[in-house]
Amino acid sequence: MIVKTTPEYLDLLNRAAAREIQVSAQYMLQHTKMDKLSRKVIAENILLDETTYDAFGKLLKDFAIQEMKHLGAIFERIYVLGGNATTKPDKITIGDSIKEFAELGYKAEEEALELYRQVIEAAKNIGDRETWQMFSKIYSDEEEHLLAFEEYLEIEKEPDLGETPESEWRSIFNPDYIALLNKALASEISAIIQYTNQHEKADGLDKMRRKKTALEVISDKNKASVVSKMLKEVFLQEMEHMEKIAERIYEIDREALATVDPLPEIGNSVEDFIKLDRDAENYAIVLYRKVIEEATKLGDIKTKKMFENIIQEEEEHYWMFDDFLP
Ligand SMILES: [Fe+2]
Ligand SMILES: [Fe+2]
Ligand SMILES: [Fe+2]
Ligand SMILES: [Fe+2]
Repeated sequence: MIVKTTPEYLDLLNRAAAREIQVSAQYMLQHTKMDKLSRKVIAENILLDETTYDAFGKLLKDFAIQEMKHLGAIFERIYVLGGNATTKPDKITIGDSIKEFAELGYKAEEEALELYRQVIEAAKNIGDRETWQMFSKIYSDEEEHLLAFEEYLEIEKEPDLGETPESEWRSIFNPDYIALLNKALASEISAIIQYTNQHEKADGLDKMRRKKTALEVISDKNKASVVSKMLKEVFLQEMEHMEKIAERIYEIDREALATVDPLPEIGNSVEDFIKLDRDAENYAIVLYRKVIEEATKLGDIKTKKMFENIIQEEEEHYWMFDDFLP
């Protein structure tokens, strides 16, 4: 082992990972909600101009991506240290206004800084220089996030315009249908966590391998490194799916839920990963067919088209994974 760790130490790193999963999903979902918020206020022409929403929306997406990068780095470190990385986020809260987004973000960043001070201290005590360095860098990112959210705390609370009055065309968006769309969203969040985690674990497995075949030495590739690269490509697409689905739910003025379903499964070898991932794609394809069927029945053309596009990519993912299995 590189560093002699303790279960408490790995637990501390996993608490950091859980925070990073939380905030990356939270900021991304808030980002997708921004259009809905701005639309209402602009329609009524009250208080805030478009640019505040645009600027904050963009900021949230940038932060979500940065938090994903933090998450990846922490996952990888946990695996290199011989631990098992969590897939369970801390509680995700989305909120209903720019002010609330800022308050929730400020609180999350404050808690992260507090926790990461403990991590930095523990890494120093245990002599884990790499983790110490990594968290010192992450710490300064979180400080920047905190300061950015702080600026938006000053903002006046936007008027609560309540729900848009129901109109005939929107009456098709019944609770069961919205639950189905949220189930699709939950499966994207699950896939993102599963693939990111496995991507970093595959990198860890790649680094831990000692004996290499001649071909591996020449090509500087092996199964773990190829799968790791593939998982990265796939999870970036799942991120786009998640964004599109959440945006659609907000567009029709319903609430997106930040659930993770099914629970991500990681596995212990590259073969495990691929089998589990093919299952995950299979789950998504079956579920999305159901969405398309319902959307067709209800006449929700836009959602139908969107899922028809998404399902094509899920099928590609399915075959990508399937091709790897004997
Ligand atoms: Fe972070
Ligand atoms: Fe942050
Ligand atoms: Fe997807
Ligand atoms: Fe997929």
